[in-house]
Amino acid sequence: MHDPVLLSESISFLLTDPGGIYVDCTLGGGGHLNCLMEELNNEARVIAIDKDETVMNQTRSRFINKPNITFVYDDFKNLSHILSQNNVAAVDGILIDLGVSSFQLDESSRGFSYHNEATLDMRMDLNQELDAKYIVNHYSEQQLSQLIFTYGEERFARTIARNIAAYRAIKEIETTLELAEIIKSSIPARYKRDKHPARKTFQALRIVVNGEMDSLNQVLPQTIEGLKSGGRLCIITFHSLEDRIVKQFYQQRALECICPPGMPVCTCNHQAELKIITRKPVIPKDEEINNNPRARSAKLRVAERR
Ligand SMILES: C[S@@+](CC[C@H](N)C(=O)[O-])C[C@H]1O[C@@H](n2cnc3c(N)ncnc32)[C@H](O)[C@@H]1O
Repeated sequence: MHDPVLLSESISFLLTDPGGIYVDCTLGGGGHLNCLMEELNNEARVIAIDKDETVMNQTRSRFINKPNITFVYDDFKNLSHILSQNNVAAVDGILIDLGVSSFQLDESSRGFSYHNEATLDMRMDLNQELDAKYIVNHYSEQQLSQLIFTYGEERFARTIARNIAAYRAIKEIETTLELAEIIKSSIPARYKRDKHPARKTFQALRIVVNGEMDSLNQVLPQTIEGLKSGGRLCIITFHSLEDRIVKQFYQQRALECICPPGMPVCTCNHQAELKIITRKPVIPKDEEINNNPRARSAKLRVAERR
């Protein structure tokens, strides 16, 4: 089972009308959806999106008796299109719980995990062409170093990229454990004690394979168009880059005035589109982190449509 992160916190912020319309952009194992459904009445409607068809089908089978949920296999970056296809003009709440689910991590054949031997894959959407094996074997050493540094925040990115390039010059890198070994050999022993040495590089590859930053950047403006006045946007991030994108987006869209600095009076007539509900991100309590280490880096930010 996937342990939903910041569950009660996110659902209590999200819910404004028990008979309203909601979008769960990241269905996963349906933990958040299940909790939301318990609070909704029969008038309510939920659109649940996931770009992993296998995960969606597994989770959908748990909600067979819930006719007011519409399941959509798609990328949430197509939110506006998904809403109009479903004849929905605006909704009361949108939830985005970024990253991968335990289903994906634990299914070794999907190639997300550095613990299990599998073909290097990491695609959430199996109909997509680009996978981790292609990136590792075809991107230049410099591109690899850059992406491992940026999306993995890995200080040994350059050495890892150099060792990947040296290895693949002799033999194609095919599996998760083959890559994990190359990474291990690139990191000095004293830095290998706490966490698995391949964790950051695998995270970086996953983000690039699935275009995670691109999807997030694309969906944000669409959430504003898709929310009713008073509707809530709840986003859970697991990475500082994602969190910064969300934080800056909220700040920009909550601005009352966009006149250049130094103007004596406001002439822009700009109107804020969002009200920030959580000035600081909501983070999991110690108890949640102890029970679910994946929650460690989670941050929830909530905004309300004006
Ligand atoms: C962290 S899990 C969500 C867990 C879920 N909230 C729960 O309680 O079980 C993230 C899910 O979102 C999906 N996902 C990630 N990025 C997506 C995107 N751009 N579009 C659609 N689904 C996406 C993943 O396939 C995964 O199943």
